Amino acid sequence: MSTFRRHSTDDLVAGRPSEEEREASRLPVIVLLDDIRSATNVGLLFRLCDCVNVQALWLAGITAYPGVSEHATNRIAKTGVGGSMEVLPWRHLEDPVPEVQRLKAEGWRVVALEQGAGSRPWRQVDYGRRTILVLGHERAGVGAPLLALAEEIAELPVRGITNSLNVAMCASAVLYELLERHQSGGEAPG
Ligand SMILES: C[S@@+](CC[C@H](N)C(=O)[O-])C[C@H]1O[C@@H](n2cnc3c(N)ncnc32)[C@H](O)[C@@H]1O
Repeated sequence: MSTFRRHSTDDLVAGRPSEEEREASRLPVIVLLDDIRSATNVGLLFRLCDCVNVQALWLAGITAYPGVSEHATNRIAKTGVGGSMEVLPWRHLEDPVPEVQRLKAEGWRVVALEQGAGSRPWRQVDYGRRTILVLGHERAGVGAPLLALAEEIAELPVRGITNSLNVAMCASAVLYELLERHQSGGEAPG
C-alpha cells in the first residue's frame, strides 16, 4: 500500500499514552490466571494485558508472579517485555474464589475460556459490562471451583489436530474482541 509508512520504535515510544490516559481508558476486564504453570506464558499475558490495557491481571494458585523467585521473575520479564510488569496492575491470590464471589456480587460477569459441553462460541458470549476472564492450567484447564462460578464458558474453535490453543493466544483473541466491543459502545457484532 503506497500510503503506508511503518512507525519506528521511536515513533511508537513517543506515541505511548500517559499514565493518566491509560487509567482513563482501561478495559473493564480482570484477567484471572488459574494455576498457570509456565512463567513464559505469564509474561506473554503481562504483555497482552498491558497492550489492551485491562483493569488488572490476577495470578492465582501456583501461577508464577514477579518476585516469587529470581528464576520466575526473569522468565516473566523475558516475554513480558516493554515494562508491562511495572505498569500493569496485578496481584497474586492463593485462592481467588472469595474475591471472584465478591466481585460477582457487585455485578462483574465471570466468563471462563474453556473447551467442553455447555460452552458457547466465543464471539456469541455475553461478557457483560465488566468481565472476569478466567484462563486455566496448560493441561488440566480451569479448575472446578472457578468453572462453578462462571456464568458463561467461551470456546474458540480448533480445526487442526492440536487439541487447544496456547493460553496467551487464546486470551489474545478474546481480549481484542472485548476491546473492539468496548470501543464501539459494548455492541457485540451482529
Ligand atoms: C492449553 S489449554 C488446556 C489444555 C487442554 N485441556 C488439553 O487437554 O489439551 C489451557 C487453557 O487455555 C484456554 N484455551 C485453550 N484453547 C482454548 C479454546 N479452544 N477455547 C477456549 N479456551 C481455550 C483455556 O483457558 C484452557 O484452560
